[in-house]
Amino acid sequence: MKIRKPLLEALNHYEREKIYPCHTPGHKGGRGFAAELKSCLGSTAAAMDVSLMSELDDLHCPSGCLKEAQEMTAALYGSDRCFFAVNGTTGAIHAMLLGALKPNDRLLVPRNSHRAVAGALVLGGLEAVFLEPGYDRNFGIATQPSLQDIEEALACDPEIKAVLLTTPNYYGLTADVAAIADLVHRRGAFLLVDEAHGAHLGFSSFLPPSALQQGADACAQSTHKTLGALTQCSWLHIRTERLDAEKMASAVSLLTSTSPNYLLLSSLDAARSQLEAAGSSMVEAAARVALELRRKLQSVTGLELLDEKVLARGEVAGYDCTKVTVKVSGLGVTGMEAADLLRQAGIAVELADFNNVLFLLTYADDNPEIEAIMNKIEKVFRTIAAMKLPPLGQPAAIRMPFPAAVMTAREAFWAETENVKLAEAAGRIAAEQVSFYPPGIPVILPGERLTGEVLAYCRALLNLRIPVSGPVDGTLKKIRVIKL
Ligand SMILES: Cc1ncc(COP(=O)(O)O)c(C=O)c1O
Repeated sequence: MKIRKPLLEALNHYEREKIYPCHTPGHKGGRGFAAELKSCLGSTAAAMDVSLMSELDDLHCPSGCLKEAQEMTAALYGSDRCFFAVNGTTGAIHAMLLGALKPNDRLLVPRNSHRAVAGALVLGGLEAVFLEPGYDRNFGIATQPSLQDIEEALACDPEIKAVLLTTPNYYGLTADVAAIADLVHRRGAFLLVDEAHGAHLGFSSFLPPSALQQGADACAQSTHKTLGALTQCSWLHIRTERLDAEKMASAVSLLTSTSPNYLLLSSLDAARSQLEAAGSSMVEAAARVALELRRKLQSVTGLELLDEKVLARGEVAGYDCTKVTVKVSGLGVTGMEAADLLRQAGIAVELADFNNVLFLLTYADDNPEIEAIMNKIEKVFRTIAAMKLPPLGQPAAIRMPFPAAVMTAREAFWAETENVKLAEAAGRIAAEQVSFYPPGIPVILPGERLTGEVLAYCRALLNLRIPVSGPVDGTLKKIRVIKL
């Protein structure tokens, strides 16, 4: 059966008609592109970078091919509405929170959420009630908040209007979404999910179920991270039993360009069609490749893999084996050093931290190159192991501290500020967020009181050469704080 792609087909049809563009974009179907750009994109893609055309529908008020493409995606995922997002899951999270909540509403959120959540707190004037997630000392990574912690937080604060979870997290660990959804709904609140790392879940019982399958009211998914859409493309799904679809549509529209890129949008349509045709086999192909890499690496003495043993922790309900987290500090190198050696061998990893490197595998890794690539990865680790370096001890400042918020993110963002040297910032209130990327989790949020501990943690990450993201001074020699 031929799977339809209403948006991509409409775009292809438009390109084939060879209409002359007396309108934007200014490059006029690629005629005006710099030669290098034109040769990168090719003339078909250049001609498909079109402006708003009636036959290509309007993302702000869809009634034709875009509406149909979004409806087909909603049907596939079992949501009531799906919104195509061209500013990544960052934009989808902003819209999800602005569409579900009002200024001053209280949101229960694990403190290790992505920086996109911090942005939504500022934009929406939301009041965050932070929750400390579980922590796995062996791998040195945050896990998930427990059901009990959420229950206690909700019992303490009946004003909480929504709970936001990040599940799966960067390392593929999922929360007990079904039980949390049940609890949150009994309290009359919404369960909103940052599912940036889980657009591929729900298609095979081989991997944990999706957030929607477990009762979440909304989820934002990075289609570009684990599926076949172009970078920047995400989906926002909602259920309308509790959430207002019109309000959500207004929030999405408010935060979206009036000139969304049709190559991006149609790549979402294409990604959906691939899943519709072969979702379970795509996901199982990714899992097969990941299990094979795991099998190879398990045989390297000194390496440790994050695997189903993590489920013994009560707060972790599931684990996505396609995120292959390998603890390398037992071989006497940091994750960053191992990542450098892998890079020299022609392999780039998804993430490196003090202890670990993370390989992200998808359906597209089920290709003829992969066997050789896996052998190369194994060889790099065997070369490191052969050096017989002493295992690394955990540094003092490995666990992210959680500084206390003394004003809301929005108040701090718009307060009078000044820049001070990091070395002199202890005791001041941050006016900006500071993250290290990946994973893009703010170590400091606007409104938090800077402690010696959090500043030492920042210095430790800078020393590990993890790129800092967020502060106005990109090197973090200085930080923007509230003016005294
Ligand atoms: C947990 C999490 N949420 C949200 C995002 C933002 O996603 P995007 O890059 O699609 O904007 C990321 C990106 O890395 C992420 O890791």
